[in-house]
Amino acid sequence: MDGTKEITVTGTLALSVFTAVLGSLEFGYNIGVINAPQKIIEEDYNATWVHRYGEPIPTGTLTSLWSLSVAIFSIGGMLSSFCVGFVSEWLGRRKAMLINNLFAFIGGSMMGMSKLCRSFEMMILGRFIIGAYCGLASGLTPMYVGEIAPTSLRGALGTLHQLAIVTGILIAQILGLESLLGSEDLWPVLLGLTVVPTVLQMGLLPFCPESPRFLYIVRCQEHHAKSLRRLTGRQEVGDMLAEMKEEKRRMDMERKVSIPELFRSPLYRQPIVISILLQLSQQLSGVNAIFYYSTSIFMKAGVQSPVYATIGAGAVNCAFTVVSLFLIERMGRRTLHMLGLGGMCMCAVIMTIALALLDSVPGMSYISMLAIFGFVAFFEVGPGPIPWFFVAELFSQGPRPAAMAVAGCSNWTANFIIGMCFQYVAVSTFSRCSKTIMRSPPVAFYSLVLSYFGVFPRNVEELCDDWGWFVCLSVCLLATLLKSGLMDLDEIFREGQK
Ligand code: GLC
Repeated sequence: MDGTKEITVTGTLALSVFTAVLGSLEFGYNIGVINAPQKIIEEDYNATWVHRYGEPIPTGTLTSLWSLSVAIFSIGGMLSSFCVGFVSEWLGRRKAMLINNLFAFIGGSMMGMSKLCRSFEMMILGRFIIGAYCGLASGLTPMYVGEIAPTSLRGALGTLHQLAIVTGILIAQILGLESLLGSEDLWPVLLGLTVVPTVLQMGLLPFCPESPRFLYIVRCQEHHAKSLRRLTGRQEVGDMLAEMKEEKRRMDMERKVSIPELFRSPLYRQPIVISILLQLSQQLSGVNAIFYYSTSIFMKAGVQSPVYATIGAGAVNCAFTVVSLFLIERMGRRTLHMLGLGGMCMCAVIMTIALALLDSVPGMSYISMLAIFGFVAFFEVGPGPIPWFFVAELFSQGPRPAAMAVAGCSNWTANFIIGMCFQYVAVSTFSRCSKTIMRSPPVAFYSLVLSYFGVFPRNVEELCDDWGWFVCLSVCLLATLLKSGLMDLDEIFREGQK
């Protein structure tokens, strides 16, 4: 929307953004919620197994069931994020968010009831369904916020999506303490609580206007001006209407942009490659290994009170998202993204060294903990928030839904790979592959895929050594991004604004 006139954040704009990011809060909650109570839920899986088969669950089966419970969430996200384009055009942004809440209800209830029904299948299916909710929310929220935000606030308001995600993660980590809801009896409540933001969002959405850009440019409806007045608080919105008219005129001249078209047309190829790379750099950095498994990581690294260390990581995560909120419009997308990736890479190196010296040098467990905090802090400076809103910024109304679907799906696919692999990748994998990886970036990807498909021996005990992977991946991604010269984000953004 207009960036030249004075910008006021009206009550309607604030309410609409708040309501939309409740979806992001829920997304974060479900990322963080299975971290702390892992052991307790695993014990319940074991109890169910004993009840059914009269013997304890084999360790390998338990690891597989747990990894699946964690990672199936991303499969749900992967499938549904691919439908974001279609759903948001068919129902509109607001109604799509409203109806999506059904998934949250069903998924949350299934997880909440799984203990009572003695069924880990229900838990796994519930995680899949809530993942489907989050996949849609991860596309619909940035799209809606990007469309209703004034241009000069788009970065800052876009970062609120990420801020809500990290707040959700932190809430889940705190509530997951054994003294609160992370206990043997209460963990179903912890997982079922995800329906609370759902109810709130359903109550508030009817008071939020539909995106005026969607109403006018896609639906050709005239009452978009009313929404615009409510969002901006101005009676005189002629300049914005003229700008939207111009965008509509351009869009009418283009053919409808399908997903294959994004890759075929020279106009969209570069932006879509950037969007995918940004999402991959976010996920393959391995940040979710921390948010899914940090309690076990800290335990292996010899940190006392690993659950509190996990909460510490969540708090650092929130604090630095706020820092990013203030820096984003000043320092620009490109600088922050590269600063973040570079810093993460440095912290991953420190962490690997600290873990290697764990037994021989005292205090290394604390250095590794600080390195994890640093890793998370750098992530939130750029690679956390930027990929989500940048795709909406990069594309105009026509190709935006298809682009968000492709970007979202790449993000969730990489999220799944990390969630599923992390428990499995063994030290032998690391030592065997690391030399090759250092020499050739693409090999990193292939090795990851190979190890995922079980080519290498798997050993949960050597979990900590896996950080070597993330050092390599961060270096490779950074090198690839820099080399391909695709990171000139701000320039591209400015070009898009002309
Ligand atoms: C980003 C990622 C998400 C991750 C979160 C951590 O939103 O998309 O997968 O869990 O950051 O803060």
